[in-house]
Amino acid sequence: MGPKYQALKGMEDLLPGEIEKWQWLEQKARVFFESRSFKEIRTPLLEYTDLFTRSVGEASDIVHKEMFSFKDRGDRDISLRPEMTASVARAVIEHGLLKTNKSLRLYYLGPMFRAERPQAGRKRQFHQIGIEIINETNLGGFNVDAEAIFQLCSFLSEVGLKDFRLRLNDLGDAVQQKQSAEKLKHYFSGHKTKLCPDCQYRLDRNVLRVFDCKNESCQPVIDKAPWNEIAPLSKPFEALTGALKNHVPFEINRRLVRGLDYYNGTVFEVTAAGLGAQDALAGGGRYDRLYEDLGSDSTPCTGFSIGLERLLAALENSTPSLSERIKLRRVYLAPLEENQKLRTQVYKDALYLRQRDVQVETLLGETSLSKHLKKANQLGIRFVLIMGSSEFEKRCWTAKDMEKKTQNEWPWEKLGTYLEEALSS
Ligand code: HAM
Repeated sequence: MGPKYQALKGMEDLLPGEIEKWQWLEQKARVFFESRSFKEIRTPLLEYTDLFTRSVGEASDIVHKEMFSFKDRGDRDISLRPEMTASVARAVIEHGLLKTNKSLRLYYLGPMFRAERPQAGRKRQFHQIGIEIINETNLGGFNVDAEAIFQLCSFLSEVGLKDFRLRLNDLGDAVQQKQSAEKLKHYFSGHKTKLCPDCQYRLDRNVLRVFDCKNESCQPVIDKAPWNEIAPLSKPFEALTGALKNHVPFEINRRLVRGLDYYNGTVFEVTAAGLGAQDALAGGGRYDRLYEDLGSDSTPCTGFSIGLERLLAALENSTPSLSERIKLRRVYLAPLEENQKLRTQVYKDALYLRQRDVQVETLLGETSLSKHLKKANQLGIRFVLIMGSSEFEKRCWTAKDMEKKTQNEWPWEKLGTYLEEALSS
């Protein structure tokens, strides 16, 4: 018999052993986006349901069947956030952030909730890292889209993802969207009987979503949809693809419509190999209507979100795997003296290494080399840095490679280079 209490289906505990990868990725994201002038925003996990109905859209799968919604004690309709773009917009408007800043670059990190059928890569509580570029009109529409796409691709490269595909589509501006929806509706209505019940529902609610259908029987009708004649690619989109060309590989896919209703113009998605059916790692696009829909002024925006579970899975599939890479970036510091000055030096060096992304372990208060080595062994750490009084006097460390069974003394200023080379060998 299993334990009496278990986590909810599709919601997972992140335990030691696994959490190190999360911490590593979250830290990378913070450093990456902050160094590119994005500021963090944190919003509550619960919002009024109406916020998502208005923004993500009533007919979207997310609002229609995937939200964790309930009445609070005051009989108000509230929901766990299924995504962050709407919450960010709500917070920006509520706090008048665009009154004090002409434009905003925000990033976020945190859990989202969608009551989907759990499977590999699809959770009910999952995590996203995302950015929103809000009201950056000086750059002009397609340049901001290009900027968001470049940020996404360079972040994925920065964390070591080698094999990913970027797909783009153009949904057209608000007027074009309305016109093309009418024309598509006309086309699909002519083939209504060949469409699945879900698509028949979408036909009346949000015809674009028909393109998302995976149902075999709908494919011939979808494949023949005259999308290019109905909605030819716009000039700004062509300028965008021109800007991306020669920098990031991409494909244009006219079937990419995204599952949230607030988009217009450019939309994009990144997929990675080896993730099975749930291979969408990140998605985003332009959404110029959202702020107006939520009662504010017209505000052009672009953004994206990356699914952390899926990105971690893709990194784990790479060679070397993320676990191996993290394991390599660990060192054990072994002070052999009680001497306070030596201890202070060890703390300072530990701090220096940690700031450089090296995970440092040590046993505080221990001075026996054999006990230090035993602990390092238990932790599976390959490199042990030893400091006794002689190393302290000479401002160096003895570096012991537990795997290769070698040991050398390194002056502090050369230790970094040694570790860099050894950790990646
Ligand atoms: P989204 O495509 O719904 O976009 O989600 C972004 C990413 O979150 C997906 O590509 C996927 O990696 C991950 N994800 C979504 N659902 C699940 C799930 N059930 N389990 C695991 N991972 C999942 C958005 O959320 C938009 N807010 C993106 C955006 C930001 N657009 C503009 N700004």
